[in-house]
Amino acid sequence: DWTMGAYREEAIRKIREQVGDKKVICGLSGGVDSSVAAVLIHEAIGDQLTCVFVDHGLLRLGEAEEVVTMFRDHYNIRLIHADEQELFLSALEGVSDPEVKRKTIGKLFIDVFQKHANSIEGAEFLAQGTLYPDVIESVSFSGGPSVTIKSHHNVGGLPEKMGLKLVEPLRELFKDEVRALGRELGLPDSFIGRHPFPGPGLAIRCPGEITRAKLDILRKADAVYIDQIRRHGLYDEIWQAFVAILPVRTVGVMGDGRTYDYACALRAVTSVDGMTADYYPFTHEFLGETATRIINEVEGINRVTYDITSKPPGTIEWE
Ligand code: XMP
Repeated sequence: DWTMGAYREEAIRKIREQVGDKKVICGLSGGVDSSVAAVLIHEAIGDQLTCVFVDHGLLRLGEAEEVVTMFRDHYNIRLIHADEQELFLSALEGVSDPEVKRKTIGKLFIDVFQKHANSIEGAEFLAQGTLYPDVIESVSFSGGPSVTIKSHHNVGGLPEKMGLKLVEPLRELFKDEVRALGRELGLPDSFIGRHPFPGPGLAIRCPGEITRAKLDILRKADAVYIDQIRRHGLYDEIWQAFVAILPVRTVGVMGDGRTYDYACALRAVTSVDGMTADYYPFTHEFLGETATRIINEVEGINRVTYDITSKPPGTIEWE
């Protein structure tokens, strides 16, 4: 793509001009926006960039390893892998209110990010994958300064607090353009085309109390479900698909025995922007096959349901 090729060169020139020989910190979430920003900035300034990846223990199966492998091993980007699972999961013990979950995670995220960022001596800039729609949104909703931190990144107010200047190389781009730039930078298609994943992660897909045991079950069920969707060639038709583990155990039979395990709900929606959504019309055959696979392959689940609620009145996530 020649346009993106030119954009890439221009963006690199601007980053170098803005940053000079100073150090930059970038919060890496594993999402497309922060990843593209990180790879672009790394291309511009190399080891002056350090990424901080906070693992809050609410990521999907194998996700943390994938991020580390891709950014540290493949791109040779300096990366702090902050394994803070214990911290987050202990803080969430006994919490079942969705907003309290979000606030707990958001607050800890800022603390942890700040702690690790402070360990990078002499950093003067904070990089963010802010997109054009985020810029517009922050202006029209708050009426405040045009630079508002993308709430999804859960790092609100951080640059001011840390006395850092912002580097936002994606500020002029829409999502499609960020994806094109990501491809231009050599990020794999499978990564670029990934469904959105919320900052609070699996916490809001585990209604009620979050336990390590439930998260492990949820991760496995989700991996089987996504594998099914990919095998049937449906992944790119769907805006977002995931499993929620329900806070209820139900009775089942397996072999000669009675089981008493968790029920889960499969979610899949089509959408343009996440503001409204329709449930995805899977065939009964697909649903049946998927339920059988999940129950056979995931210990701890003995019942599978499909969520056929659209948005509105439902939300995409369960919390
Ligand atoms: P809902 O559930 O509100 O979701 O219909 C709309 C889109 O937003 C994502 N989402 C979040 N993303 N932090 C995030 O970063 C959050 O707290 C959060 N809640 C919802 C959701 O995954 C969907 O894409």
